[in-house]
Amino acid sequence: METRYNTIGIAGAGAMGRGIAQIAAQAGSTVRLYDTQPEAVQRALADLATQWDRLQEKGRMEAGAVQAAKQRLHAAGSLQDLADCELVVEAIVERLDVKKALFAQLEGIVGPEAVLATNTSSLSVTAIANGLQRPQRVAGYHFFNPVPLMKVVEVIAGLKTDPAVCEGLTAYARQMGHTPVQAQDTPGFIVNHAGRGYGTEALRIVGEGVADFATIDRILRDQVGFRLGPFELMDLTGLDVSHPVMESIYRQYYDEPRYRPSPIAAQRVAGGMLGRKTAEGFYRYAEGKQQVPA
Ligand code: NAI
Repeated sequence: METRYNTIGIAGAGAMGRGIAQIAAQAGSTVRLYDTQPEAVQRALADLATQWDRLQEKGRMEAGAVQAAKQRLHAAGSLQDLADCELVVEAIVERLDVKKALFAQLEGIVGPEAVLATNTSSLSVTAIANGLQRPQRVAGYHFFNPVPLMKVVEVIAGLKTDPAVCEGLTAYARQMGHTPVQAQDTPGFIVNHAGRGYGTEALRIVGEGVADFATIDRILRDQVGFRLGPFELMDLTGLDVSHPVMESIYRQYYDEPRYRPSPIAAQRVAGGMLGRKTAEGFYRYAEGKQQVPA
């Protein structure tokens, strides 16, 4: 299978990294998955194997395609193992300093033509690229959770990004069966900027005592027609991810009041109630199924 990038690296084997690994391997790329926590890579490989077996059982993928995808996916024991990658997609913690440090390291490992893409939800692509030797090879590549089901991907050029880099990422998104959308390098890009109204305003309604979160979710899901209510969505994303995104967008818009993050979300983060990943966020979860409000 011919793809735009034959070999790609993914840094960060969490929810997003493993989703991107799945669709990239299915599209025919050799995928090298790296994480500072080796057990996160092992969990991701086991999880993806189960995922593919399930797709085969349901008749959504043929046995040969499943076998081939599994064979294309490899654990990377160190960043050095990404040396032959034509593209590296970063899906690590949402912190500018950590992402910048990773990209600086990667630049010394991959070839000069390799593309370094960030899956950041809210940070400036221009800022991530600043200080690198080859900022023209850096772009935003913003997927959504769960990656195989959420088909949109934002392709973001920083101020110094070579347009050819975005063209390559756009073509590759299509090869993976996704719908690429060009977005400007602005806080939250398109989707997380527009989505501010959903989460932030819902938290405000709870803060003002107008309604409880389960009622807001029920109305927006069952009556208005969203797939998930705002609190269900925050639990799926992980409050440790969504709250820093809110903080980051608020700061970047110079403390614009309508983007102000909520102490209600901050409290859940402080209490380790991060959502599905900790089995408790706004709701409790048992075996992945949503239970009563927490
Ligand atoms: P996660 O917490 O599930 O996974 C992050 C992984 O990165 C962890 O396994 C961690 O060990 C690893 N990691 C941390 N620092 C590292 C480093 N320096 N080098 C290599 N690995 C490192 O996080 P998630 O949800 O996958 O998010 C990752 C990125 O994707 C963040 O930038 C987030 O804002 C963005 N994002 C998240 C979405 C979501 O709904 N969860 C949606 C779209 C983007």
